[in-house]
Amino acid sequence: MIVTVTSFKGGVGKTTTAIHLATFLQGQAETLLIDADPNRSSLGWASRGELPFPVIDEWHPDALSADFRHIVIDTQARPIQDDLATLAAHCDLLVLPTTADIMALEALVLTVNTLKTIPVARYRILLTSMPPKPTKAEAEVRSLLAETQLPVFQQGIRRYSVYQKAAKAGVPVYAVKDPKAETAWQDYEAVGRELLTSMD
Ligand SMILES: Nc1ncnc2c1ncn2[C@@H]1O[C@H](COP(=O)(O)OP(=O)(O)O)[C@@H](O)[C@H]1O
Ligand SMILES: [Mg+2]
Repeated sequence: MIVTVTSFKGGVGKTTTAIHLATFLQGQAETLLIDADPNRSSLGWASRGELPFPVIDEWHPDALSADFRHIVIDTQARPIQDDLATLAAHCDLLVLPTTADIMALEALVLTVNTLKTIPVARYRILLTSMPPKPTKAEAEVRSLLAETQLPVFQQGIRRYSVYQKAAKAGVPVYAVKDPKAETAWQDYEAVGRELLTSMD
C-alpha cells in the first residue's frame, strides 16, 4: 500500500503522522518511509535516534521500494490545489492532516471543491493536535466536515507534548519515557487500523 501524507497548510502534523503511520504499518509488513519534503524532517527524525523502518529521500525510491509492502510518503504543504488530485492519483490513500484552528479550517474550506473532484476512496482527512479533552472547536470542525461530507478518520490525534520529545529523541512516541506515551500511540494505532479497514 502507498500512503501519501500531505496538507493544505504547514505545521499541521504531516511528519508526525507519516512517522507514526509508518511505525504502525511496519508492525504489519515491511515498510519504507520516503521523505519528499525539502525540509527533510523525517530524515532528521530518523537520524537522531532509531526508527523501526528505513527513511530515504525521494530521489532514489526505486533502489529500495521493491523490498517493501508498504510505502509512506511525507511531503511539503501543497498550496496548489491541482497537485492534490495528482498526488491522490499516485497512491492508495492520501492522508490529509489538519488542526482544528481557524487558519487550518479556512485552508481546508478553500480546498473542499478540489477534494470533491477526487474519488472519495482516495483520501481521508485526519484531525491532529486536538485538545485532549473534547472542545467546542473540535465539535465545530467535525460538524463542518460532516456538512461537506468529506471523508474523515473517526479517530483524531490528540495534542501531547510527548510528540516533541519523540521527534527530538528520533523514536516513535511509544518509546519515550512519558506518562502520555502509550495514550498518544493508541491514537495513531487506531488511525492505522481505520486505514487498513478502509483499504479492504
Ligand atoms: N498530536 C500532536 N501533539 C502535539 N504536538 C504535535 C502533534 N503533532 C505534531 N505536533 C508538533 O507540531 C509541530 C509540527 O508538526 P509536524 O509533524 O512537523 O508538521 P508538518 O510536517 O505538517 O510541518 C511539531 O513541533 C510537532 O512536534
Ligand atoms: Mg513536515
